[in-house]
Amino acid sequence: MTSFPAAETMIEITYLVATALFILSLKWMSSPATARHGVWAAEFGMLLAVVGTLLNRGIVDYKWIAIALVLGSIIGIPLGMVKITAVPQRTALSHAFGALCVTLVGTAEFYLRAPAVPRFMMSVLSMEVILGSLTFTGSLMAAGKLQEILPQRPITYKGQNVVNLGMLAAAIAVAGYLVVHPDHMYLFPLIVVIPLLFGVQMIIPIGGADMPTVISLLNSYAGLSAAAMGFVLESKLLIVAGALDGASGLILSINMSKAMNRSFTNVLFGGFGQEQTAAKAGQETRAVRSATPEEAAEILAAASTVVIVPGYGMAVAQAQHKVRELYDILTKRGVDVKFGIHPVAGRMPGHMNVLLAEADIPYDKLLDMDEINGELPQTDVALIIGANDVTNPAARTDASSPIFGMPILDVDKARTVMVIKRSMAAGFAGIGNPLYYLDKTLMLFGDAKGFVGSIVRELSGGGSHG
Ligand code: TAP
Repeated sequence: MTSFPAAETMIEITYLVATALFILSLKWMSSPATARHGVWAAEFGMLLAVVGTLLNRGIVDYKWIAIALVLGSIIGIPLGMVKITAVPQRTALSHAFGALCVTLVGTAEFYLRAPAVPRFMMSVLSMEVILGSLTFTGSLMAAGKLQEILPQRPITYKGQNVVNLGMLAAAIAVAGYLVVHPDHMYLFPLIVVIPLLFGVQMIIPIGGADMPTVISLLNSYAGLSAAAMGFVLESKLLIVAGALDGASGLILSINMSKAMNRSFTNVLFGGFGQEQTAAKAGQETRAVRSATPEEAAEILAAASTVVIVPGYGMAVAQAQHKVRELYDILTKRGVDVKFGIHPVAGRMPGHMNVLLAEADIPYDKLLDMDEINGELPQTDVALIIGANDVTNPAARTDASSPIFGMPILDVDKARTVMVIKRSMAAGFAGIGNPLYYLDKTLMLFGDAKGFVGSIVRELSGGGSHG
């Protein structure tokens, strides 16, 4: 079927606007103040891209597209409604679906065009299929690890990196051969199957603590494979969107590696990844000092400067609105309250910013680790709400610690430290935290939402004083 020129123009315009919206969306998402606009721009851009594609007069039958849309919605709607703490594994699943789609399209395109596939086309097709396949299984593995369906600890064996690199090299070699001899069609399945196996191999040696970086890297691979698919399908929109996705994922991975003090090459090549030790917080027998909400409220009321450090536990407890009440009441009393945000606090990049923004905490009170660390030695009270690893001084002092070298929030330098958590249990890295045993530290045992609520009640004069 031929296309009407008007429809062609409409398609080009929708694609152009969609591309501009994707670029703007990335720009807006780089700041909490404009992040919501960024999400809307991306959603609208994607809607335009889908509508533009549906306008294509080359479509001979809408039936299969309609079925795919219904199926996609049946899977996508519940996926979009998972709890915020499950977003990392949900994101990994989205990458897996995207990568599967890219691989299937690439495979179909090869068999439609073979045996006469021009060299450039065969090169991008191979790149699309190799990246798509390894991202598919790699993302499923990453989701499984984060959902704790698969063991989080690294699974390693001797010579693993040689095996892994050998598999990747074999897939690339077969692809190279196919570029020159596309008529050897029987070889094509190898550039799907080998990377599928490589995807599994690539993820199993990586410990749970590196998973966020890996997911962001898989995001980058999914973007690059989509860009390659853009060349195959001659879609400028896909090339641009894929390149944006690929580049932003790569930048995020590098930034996250820095924040966790993981060497990016180590994460990339898996097998060198972090080995978690068997250190268990529960084995600690030293005593800690604990305090009640009344005592905590008194200390906070007497302070002039308070830095609140939120972590994963605040997300689990959904305590952000109570934290906002605490912020309001302390600020009204003249206390200078700021928030110290660690780049990998929680379970996904920007996790704490999203939650605190949802509770309308002013953005200018959210300080990055580097900014707040300069202020912590002059801070009266560091109040840690459900954070653990990101405050662990062992990262600075204990060379044997699995998190040694990871930049942390220097809360131990504040005059008084108060930690809200439910028990002495370890955080994500599975290790004890010497912060809890300092003389200046008070443990506030309880659920983050409940405990902060009790402090707020005390400060507003409604405590039971029983
Ligand atoms: P964690 O080290 O995981 O510690 C969270 C603490 O919250 C736990 O020790 C837990 O202690 C407490 N907690 C859980 N539920 C609670 C509740 N309802 N009320 C009060 N406290 C509760 O968190 P973090 O300090 O935010 O560090 C993040 C960790 O996750 C880092 O190791 C990071 O590398 C990793 N990670 C980060 C990301 C990203 S990108 N942000 C993604 C995946 C992994 P109790 O059980 O005693 O309450």
